[in-house]
Amino acid sequence: MPNLEEILEKYPFVQRDNLIPVLQDIQDEFGYLSEEAIVKVGKYLNLPTVKIYGLATFYHHFRFIAKGKYHIKICNGTSCHVNSNILIINELEKKLGIKDEEITKDGLFSLEETTCMAACGEGPVMAVNDKYFTHLTIEKVAEIIDSYKSMEE
Ligand code: FES
Repeated sequence: MPNLEEILEKYPFVQRDNLIPVLQDIQDEFGYLSEEAIVKVGKYLNLPTVKIYGLATFYHHFRFIAKGKYHIKICNGTSCHVNSNILIINELEKKLGIKDEEITKDGLFSLEETTCMAACGEGPVMAVNDKYFTHLTIEKVAEIIDSYKSMEE
């Protein structure tokens, strides 16, 4: 696994205008853009960290918190919304004790509300890491979370 310096060394001529590939590489490697990474990028480029945050937050696919061992994406697109995804989101928040863009204290679960996950006919939809779950109900979501929790006992 390369460290942050190795990633930065791949971009000797990077400036603010072509910073996105660098941030993308860092996120691909570490799963998110940590404060430490943003500060290091700022020092490397001689740019204020606030400018880097400003740029990164403009693009919604950048994350600023770590992912849990089980990263849950819950669709908040229009079709899933019509299919009462709010009940599923509420259940997830209740079961996990976290909200969107948060991670549980034990690092096991993180939650992310996303735009359409391209399974509109099967909503509400969520994914745990790369595994999709469709036609969700409150009961089904509770069972799914319990099954992941039980794997850790
Ligand atoms: S709106 Fe949820 S999968 Fe498309």
